[in-house]
Amino acid sequence: MAKQSPQSNPVPAGLVDESHDAVEPTLHQQDGGQSHETQKYGDVVPMPHALPDDAARNSVMALNTVLADTITLRDMYKKHHWQVVGPTFNQLHLMYDEHFTAQVELVDLLAERIQILGGISLAMSADIAEETRIPRPPRGREPASVQLSRLIDAHTLIIKEARELAEKAQDDKDSGTNDLLVSNVLRTNELQVWFLSEHLVAATPV
Ligand SMILES: [Fe+2]
Repeated sequence: MAKQSPQSNPVPAGLVDESHDAVEPTLHQQDGGQSHETQKYGDVVPMPHALPDDAARNSVMALNTVLADTITLRDMYKKHHWQVVGPTFNQLHLMYDEHFTAQVELVDLLAERIQILGGISLAMSADIAEETRIPRPPRGREPASVQLSRLIDAHTLIIKEARELAEKAQDDKDSGTNDLLVSNVLRTNELQVWFLSEHLVAATPV
């Protein structure tokens, strides 16, 4: 028996949604002027992490501070990766990108820890610019030695705050946040600031 074509067996009139409402995407849902936020920044919702509310709230605030500075440092690495010049171009160009990649991983760990604790992580560059404590570099190119100094200062700032906030997290018995700040943030930044500092020894051609 020959196969029937779709046209040979039409759906009875009345069963078809002629308006296509059921399959048409509803676009521009963010428009209209009213807020669609389901959780405000700063609100911390209860999650099954078995920590007291205050401990979770303290850690969320601390982690967002470190997150803002880590995103800024991450982006500064890419700026310098693109703009570096001089006899050490290749070495610095590659090292900056390796450090950038490690900072990308830290950003994700920090942001997801904030969400795990029931908070909202900072994300967009305009918000990061308002929150970071790392001074804004100029748009233009700077010499390699100034790039390195600027990066070192940013690392040192993050190292100090990671150490302080790790101790506070431990006081709150938030071992997960303490571990993230020590094992990931602190250790990565200590390693990277060492790599950078060795380039500023006077005998180098930077
Ligand atoms: Fe590149």
